[in-house]
Parts: sequence; C-alpha cells; structure tokens
Amino acid sequence: ALLPPPGGPGDAAGQALPVESRPFASYGSALHITLPQAPRAGQLLTLLIDYEAGDGPGVCWLSPEQTAGKQKPYMYTQGQAVLNRSFFPCFDTPSVKFTYSATVKVPEGFTAVMSATSWEKEKDNTFVFKMSQPIPSYLIALVVGDIVSADVGPRSRVWAEPCLIEAAKKEYDGVIEEFLVVGEKLFGPYVWGRYDILFMPPSFPFGGMENPCLTFVTPCLLAGDRSLVDVIIHEISHSWFGNLVTNATWGEFWLNEGFTMYAQRRISTEVYGLPYTCLEAATGRALLRQHMDATGEGFCLFLGVNPDDTYNETPYEKGYCFVSYLAHLVGNQSKFDAFLQAYVNKFKFQSITADDTLGFFLEYFPELKAKGVDSIPGFEFDRWLNTPGWPPYLPDLSPGQQLMRPAEELAELWAADGLNMEAIEAVDITGWRTYQLVYFLDQVLQKSPLPEGNVKRLSKMYPKISKAQNAELRLRWCQIVLKNNLEAEYSKVKDFLHSQGKQKYTLPLYRAMWGGSEATRALAMETFSATAPQLHVNVQNYVKKILGLQGAE
Ligand code: BES
Ligand code: ZN
Repeated sequence: ALLPPPGGPGDAAGQALPVESRPFASYGSALHITLPQAPRAGQLLTLLIDYEAGDGPGVCWLSPEQTAGKQKPYMYTQGQAVLNRSFFPCFDTPSVKFTYSATVKVPEGFTAVMSATSWEKEKDNTFVFKMSQPIPSYLIALVVGDIVSADVGPRSRVWAEPCLIEAAKKEYDGVIEEFLVVGEKLFGPYVWGRYDILFMPPSFPFGGMENPCLTFVTPCLLAGDRSLVDVIIHEISHSWFGNLVTNATWGEFWLNEGFTMYAQRRISTEVYGLPYTCLEAATGRALLRQHMDATGEGFCLFLGVNPDDTYNETPYEKGYCFVSYLAHLVGNQSKFDAFLQAYVNKFKFQSITADDTLGFFLEYFPELKAKGVDSIPGFEFDRWLNTPGWPPYLPDLSPGQQLMRPAEELAELWAADGLNMEAIEAVDITGWRTYQLVYFLDQVLQKSPLPEGNVKRLSKMYPKISKAQNAELRLRWCQIVLKNNLEAEYSKVKDFLHSQGKQKYTLPLYRAMWGGSEATRALAMETFSATAPQLHVNVQNYVKKILGLQGAE
C-alpha cells in the first residue's frame, strides 16, 4: 500500500497498489509495484509491503540438535552476497544504502539480536532495533536463539549459547578494544558505536561475517588460546573497508576483501609485529597457490560471475597483493596509511567501483599519476583487474623468515626418503605458534604424498598436530591424511566434517576425497549423506557439485 505523506490528510491504512512478481536473475524474483501516478523527482514515497518470509537460503532455521546446547531451536540470517532478498523485500544490491529499524517479537526463552546501532527490549519479549547509519542490504542480520552475553571490553561483548559463553568470554576478554583503537588510529573514527561478537552454531558457513555492530563468527574460533584472532581483526577491518566504503557491485568484491586483508595485516603488524604478520600472510599466499593450482590459471580481480561464487581466494589474496602494490608504489608506509584514511573519509557511506578507488589514488598522489604508474608494462592497473593469473607483484614477506624457515626445514626433513630421525628430533616444536604449525603443515601437504610410512611416523611424533582440536590444524591434518591415503586416520576427516560446517573447511576436504581413491570417495559419500542436513544450503549445493550429484547449476 502507498501510505499518505506524514502529517498530511489521507487514509492511514494507505491506498492498495497493484503488485506483480516477475522473473529476476538466477535467484529470487522482482517485485513490481504500480504507482497511481508517476512520482516527481525527489518526492518521498512511503510504501507498506506485507509479506511472509519462509525457508530461504538467507534465513536458516536450525533444530535443537544443530545447536551447541542441543536444547532449543535457533534461527539466523546470512545476507552476503544476495541472500537477504529471501528475508525481506529490498534493493538487494550493495550499490544502495539505507538505514533501518525493526521490531522483533520472539517466544519466551529466546533473545533476538540484530546488526543495529541501538536495541531495546520491550514487554512481551519484543525487541526494537535501529541502525542509524546507511548500510547496504547484505549487512542486515538477525539471530533468534537461546543466547546470552558477557562484556569483554568498554564497547564490546560476546554473545553465545549459554554452554559456550564462558569459553567465549575467556577467548576474547580484554583484547578487542586494542584492535579497535589501532584501527581508529590507522583508518579514522569507528562509526558503528558498539563492536560485539556473536558465536554462531557449528554449521555457520563462514569464519566470520562483518555484520555491523555485531560480527558473526564460527565457534571454531574458540581455540582456547586466541590463536585464531586474525579472523576478528579481519571482521573489525571491514568496519572501514566494506561496511563504510562498499563495493558497488559484487564483481568488485576485491574492493571489500582485498582492502580488508590489507587493513587486517596493518593492524596485526601494529599489535603482533611484522614477523608474525608475514607468517600469517604467507599462509594466505599458500591458499592462493592451492586455489590456483586447483582451478587452472586462476581469476581476475574483476569477477563477472554469480555473486555467491565470489567467495574464493582471489579477491582476498590477489586483492591484498594489489593493495600492497599500491603501497609499494608510494614507497612509504605512513604516507600510504594517510591515503587509506583519506580514502575512507572521502567515500564513507558510499558504494564505489575500482575506477573510483584508483582514480582517487592517482589524484591523491599526483607525482605517481604524472609518472604513469597505472600503465607500467606488466603491472598495468587494468591487467591487475582484468587478467587472470598469479599476481604480478608479491609483497615481501621475508621479515617472517625467522618463523617460516624452521618450518620449511622441518617439512623438508619429513619429505625425505630415509628419515633422518636425529635431525627431526633435534627440532623442538613445542613452543611453535599455531600459524607456524599451519605453515609447516602446508609445506608438508605441498610435498605430499610423502614416502611410504613417513606420515604415520609424523602423526605419532606430534600428537599436538594429529590430535589437535584447533580447526586450522585439523583442516591441514585431514588434507595430509587424504593426500597420503592414511586410512587409519580417515575417521578424523569424518569427525571434523561432523563437528562443523564452515565452507572453507568443508569444500577442500570434499575436493580432496573426491579426487582420491575409491575408499576416500566412499568416505565422501557416507559423510555427506550423514551431515548434509546440517550444512547451509549453499554449502550443500557446492558439495553436491563436487560429488557429481545434481544441485548447483
Ligand atoms: N564477508 C566475508 C564472508 C563472506 C564472503 C560471506 C562472501 C558471504 C559471501 C568475511 O569478512 C570473511 O572474509 N571471512 C573470512 C575471514 C578470513 C579471511 C580471516 C572467512 O570466513 O574465512
Ligand atoms: Zn572479509
């Protein structure tokens, strides 16, 4: 219905309008509404749309068994990239920004939270939310469940099911504020008020999702030792890159993720130092390598595909390389930091294209523009955006050598034909950080299959790795088990896939199983038929595609 203008005369119930649903893109449909007369430019219209949202990929309804506590059902929404159109009618494109408010009534014993700048609980278990800054549709998010919260900083709390809240508080108590402060110092004011973190049920398909004011994260981050905090720093970085300055189309997703990876590593460098940050970046580079080897020549930064297929390493790690290249052209970290801050300030609350970004870069550094840095042969900006393949420039990660070198050497020892146990035993890995172990395992994986018997020995020698609870270690260990046909430990692959449903863990393991032996293929089928109902529908479809079952186009 078309509502009368505020304050003016007219029927408060509004005037009913003809509506029609028409085909639109590959997912969802377009709602066409016929107005009584053509509106004037700049005229404000208020439409009332009565609708019901049911099952859709954007709205996930979980049974009690699919939660950590297994007592009560749970619902959550996941908007990115184009799933919120199954949640509410909207201009479901990142090029349009708006504020919102919502009133959510939930049953007794449940709490509702949203990605909003303010919220209040009213009587009858009704929650009222308001987001006072303009955001794109994909950043609206809602959770209803048996959840509680605990403070972890002056503007931060963690939310989780009651059985996880202690662990959640312990993991991040007192550390979030420092990331926010460093982020503000580097990129300008944090405009979203609070920064809270919600630990999701195990089937949440992402490591983290940067819903404003309230990041959603996988419970896999509860490692007990803060070792996976890079995901939090990443989502915090979206507060400037992505949520404030937003890619206008999903084809330019690297503007969100490449800049965010860069910002994440800037914050990490300030807090944890350059060697550690380079080590983390090296594991990112390894993922890009694996992804390119698996897909052939790799992708352009500019993606012309289904927006839900954009979630791969290219926009992240190749995007990171491109932003690092821009910093390299400037040649001075504090000057580049100042540019990033000016960039955020210039485009905040807007949606932009790569042309806007690169145009502003050249305008900000006229001496670089005069030198024609956008067209240096082999490094043309256009080539970065529109040519697939390995990045033409890689940032120097050698400050991480002190951490990487021992891991590389140890991997070499383990890949040898006759194992030199004396040399291996001389290396003490008890003090290694999680990412050092991850780096070591990536090296081992790259060299796999190892000579007969080596992986079995490795497993015995390092229970800290082969029996790890840390999800990043478990993923690598499972990949090694599969690549080396270590049948005795196939059950670990199964257990890991039963325990969580993160896309970046699930798909590589199914790809490895499907590309392996008869036995690993059977393992894939068996595991998928048991776990499919727990997986997010998109992840289900990607797995089906890998296993040659129907599903995704
Ligand atoms: N915004 C992404 C998650 C996403 C991407 C959801 C595309 C839907 C479609 C989030 O910020 C992200 O990148 N998460 C990563 C964290 C990592 C790079 C530290 C993840 O989930 O692994
Ligand atoms: Zn991200």
